[in-house]
Amino acid sequence: MTARVAIVTGGAQGIGRGIVESLVAQGHTVAIADLNGETATSTAKEVAAASGGNVIAVRMDVTDTDSVRSAVAEVEQQLGPVEVLVNNAGWDDFMPFVKTNEEFWDKILDINFKGALRVIQAVVPGMMERGFGRVVNIGSDAGRVGSSLEAVYSGSKGGIIAFTKTLAREVATKGVTANTVCPGPTDTPALRNFTQASGQDADKVIAGMTRAVPMKRLGTPSDIGPAVAFFASDGAGFVTGQTLSVSGGLTMA
Ligand SMILES: NC(=O)c1ccc[n+]([C@@H]2O[C@H](COP(=O)([O-])OP(=O)(O)OC[C@H]3O[C@@H](n4cnc5c(N)ncnc54)[C@H](O)[C@@H]3O)[C@@H](O)[C@H]2O)c1
Repeated sequence: MTARVAIVTGGAQGIGRGIVESLVAQGHTVAIADLNGETATSTAKEVAAASGGNVIAVRMDVTDTDSVRSAVAEVEQQLGPVEVLVNNAGWDDFMPFVKTNEEFWDKILDINFKGALRVIQAVVPGMMERGFGRVVNIGSDAGRVGSSLEAVYSGSKGGIIAFTKTLAREVATKGVTANTVCPGPTDTPALRNFTQASGQDADKVIAGMTRAVPMKRLGTPSDIGPAVAFFASDGAGFVTGQTLSVSGGLTMA
């Protein structure tokens, strides 16, 4: 296993933190790039202390091109060229589509769709020049099969899946792969916040999600990280443009 330099956006908590832990366990050096610089710094310290690995934190807002470019430059200055990019930063709010407005659509698309595009444009040209790169985008089962109260979010994640396939085609001869990992309902701070804010009984919403999963439990961040680590590995060099659900059997198509 070659140790690589990786960036995980939104790696301060939740699924992103699980991804950071899995990449560090594989021997990679990881930069957590998160809007919440304080939590990113404490997470980096905790993961490094627990694993003995090399983890740093930088503040990055994926909705701001200047912030993305300066954070990537800071990582490359500290750790060297980025070889693995995981676009995980994301946001959602549970709402019936007819109650949403254009400001909400823009926010969702700017974080979940255009956010990944900004980081990819800052990182992938260098990967192509050097002849090696692994891009792993975090989609969602919502982007494959839909999800009630998450129409715009589902659209943004469907967009990520389609975009990743096209990117994979365009960079296929340059040693760069691009794949999507789609979590199902996963127990993270985001899921708890959104279910509480949904105006419905949060425990009932979570129980409903759990019932729908053949394995009858929510995912955890440590369920998602190993799938990302596989796509990030040198051995996955002939695997590109794929969409992998990690959701206890919720989505099998
Ligand atoms: N939790 C789930 O059930 C679930 C299911 C499917 C997909 N996902 C996807 O997994 C990813 C992580 O979700 P999570 O549940 O761990 O969320 P979370 O809210 O717990 O963590 C998201 C992280 O992203 C960071 N972030 C938010 N906006 C950002 C921005 N503009 N720039 C940089 N960082 C930003 C946050 O600070 C936070 O650390 C998201 O892409 C989400 O859509 C989550």
